[in-house]
Amino acid sequence: MLKVGIIGTGDIANLNVLGYLRSQDAELVAVSDHDIKTAGQKLERWGLRTTKIYLDYKEMVDREDLDIVEILTPHHLHGPMAEYCAKAGVSGVSVQKPMAHTITACESMIRVCKDEGVTLKLYENFRFYPVYLKAKELLDNGAIGELLNFRINTVKTGGPSMRVDLTSFDWRLKVDMCGGGPGIYDDGIHKFSMALWLMEQERVEKVYSWIDYFTNTYDMPSIIFWTYPNKNDNDPPKFGSMQFTLAPNLYYPSNYYDCDEYIEISGTKGMMWINQCTSGGNFISKTPQYPPVVVYRDGEVKVYGEDLPRDWRYSFINSTEHFIDAIKKGTDPIYTGEQGRNLCVFAKMPYISQQRKEDVNWNEVTSGGEKEGSCIVEAPKDLDGTGMFKYYKRSRKDLKEGIRKGLKIKEFAYQYEH
Ligand SMILES: NC(=O)c1ccc[n+]([C@@H]2O[C@H](COP(=O)([O-])OP(=O)(O)OC[C@H]3O[C@@H](n4cnc5c(N)ncnc54)[C@H](O)[C@@H]3O)[C@@H](O)[C@H]2O)c1
Repeated sequence: MLKVGIIGTGDIANLNVLGYLRSQDAELVAVSDHDIKTAGQKLERWGLRTTKIYLDYKEMVDREDLDIVEILTPHHLHGPMAEYCAKAGVSGVSVQKPMAHTITACESMIRVCKDEGVTLKLYENFRFYPVYLKAKELLDNGAIGELLNFRINTVKTGGPSMRVDLTSFDWRLKVDMCGGGPGIYDDGIHKFSMALWLMEQERVEKVYSWIDYFTNTYDMPSIIFWTYPNKNDNDPPKFGSMQFTLAPNLYYPSNYYDCDEYIEISGTKGMMWINQCTSGGNFISKTPQYPPVVVYRDGEVKVYGEDLPRDWRYSFINSTEHFIDAIKKGTDPIYTGEQGRNLCVFAKMPYISQQRKEDVNWNEVTSGGEKEGSCIVEAPKDLDGTGMFKYYKRSRKDLKEGIRKGLKIKEFAYQYEH
């Protein structure tokens, strides 16, 4: 039985723990959080009251002889924590996305884990969402021919949604802890992951972006464009784009975060639409207009994936199960450290483009560039927090209005707490 420890029992721990709770091969033996109350509440909720809590993660790692450690903390802590675990002899270290706040930290983690013979996983769960796995299978089988264009829209909605601890906003708004903003760098890693994986690419060529800071808080609304590298001279050009839409007044129930994703991929022989991810399973999923995957080809429209679970939690369960298996068999995790680093490069490019008001090339965002100061994501100017107030005031006002008009779901509450 593999012995597992978790560092950081904040919001996402509730989802990361699911794969371990149902595993026959791994067992959660200890958690560490410097907030003992949070850790205690989580263990109570998971039905693991007797599991040990450590305030100091180093003490947990030194004492518990762990096979796997899950690092679920703010981004600037991922590097030092992963390296400590690797040097202490933990066989498998899984780090929640993004891998780290800087490319320099990513590379150091990769180096140390390699030196110590440790398996390093970058935990990006969209890669395991059942509907996305189905879409990938169809694309790999040539459902729409050669892939030409990728587009993903993330809509940041007004909920109601899962309750999120406000303290988790503090570090996300600090560029030196987060590595970028809460939209494009933090949440965006999932979307950059889809832009590479679904399109069969390892990287992009160049990126251009437009980022607004309307609320003085979020790095959105924003639009990001890129080109994929051409493998052969005669290949058709391949493009991608990503939007973050800020819609705090949009009534949109979710069991998880208050956002959802819509993907469109065009190919030489057809088109594919992939509806919903984070909020999959809500009332939109139950309408005939939004099946999981829609493919147009040769004058025909077909629908796929209606038999699949449309609940975001399965992306976490599948990801954790894959990691347990990788540790048992000594195979590569999804993603490897190098792939995790690449996602950080991609996610930093839009900020550098916005700062310079020009295209940014893939090889301009490097640890060397960070040392020279040529690719540092800067804190946005004039962030006084008033936008945050404006944002929530507006979203509460709109929800109240919706309730008056007879909306069915009336609370900002997480359904699994009932
Ligand atoms: N995969 C996803 O969809 C997803 C969603 C949300 C968050 N995340 C990622 O998960 C990670 C954590 O995010 P979160 O939203 O749970 O954050 P959070 O702020 O809710 O939780 C972080 C926890 O770490 C603890 N912590 C901080 N410093 C510590 C230390 N030195 N030792 C022990 N514990 C410490 C805090 O007390 C807190 O409980 C981040 O990397 C984030 O980007 C991923």
